[in-house]
Amino acid sequence: MAMGMTAAAVTNGRLSSKLRQAGERMPIIDFHSHILPGIDDGSRNPEMSRDMLRQSARQGVAVMAATPHFYGDRDTIGRFLKRRQEALEKALPLAEEAGIELLAGAEVAYFDNMSQAEGIETLTLADTEILLVEMPFRAWSRREIQELDRLLHEGYRLMLAHLERYLGFQKDKGILEAIYERPIFVQLNAESLLGFWNGQKAVKLFKEGRAHLLGSDCHNLTSRPPNLAEGRAVIEKKLGRGKLAEIDELGEQLLSPSP
Ligand SMILES: [Fe+2]
Repeated sequence: MAMGMTAAAVTNGRLSSKLRQAGERMPIIDFHSHILPGIDDGSRNPEMSRDMLRQSARQGVAVMAATPHFYGDRDTIGRFLKRRQEALEKALPLAEEAGIELLAGAEVAYFDNMSQAEGIETLTLADTEILLVEMPFRAWSRREIQELDRLLHEGYRLMLAHLERYLGFQKDKGILEAIYERPIFVQLNAESLLGFWNGQKAVKLFKEGRAHLLGSDCHNLTSRPPNLAEGRAVIEKKLGRGKLAEIDELGEQLLSPSP
């Protein structure tokens, strides 16, 4: 781990005092990104990470959760953490240069009995209890809901990655209700707000309080670029500044030390 303020901030997993004092406005947090170089299907190399970080900074992003894919069926947590550490060491100085605080996390693909998997607690975002879960791209059943319940019972704060991408598979609307009625944080990708029809759906989810947080889920500079600001602009236009403030406040609260 590279030493210095940014590294310390990652170790602490909390917003640094530097950011807290930056102004009255809440820092803009990107909760989902594939910014780390050479670890998954996201950024290919440090140069790409640097450009993605700069682009994010230009959009006002102050904190980025680095959430590379973790697949329990083809990787071990130990190996993943080692690769993530190597990638982080490359990305941290670039993030510091861009003025962005990087937090170490993972996008954990759902697997049965994941709540009991050894070492799963090491995949939370920095040292928070937030676990970003990528659900299966198919219809869910009570089995998945029970597993989410077990994770909640274990004390995780669950964040469901890009809910908009699974909606079409869920013909049983009761399953979605089951998600909404649980204390689960629903993250949408900024992209979900950009198309007309889907954009309306995403806006509605935020309006109804069923979606809570935003991520860019950026993978590169072309097909899946950093685009948090575009999504935020839609929220501001359709739901007002208050909604954005609500999103930012929740994000900051989730990363702040518990009282
Ligand atoms: Fe992702």
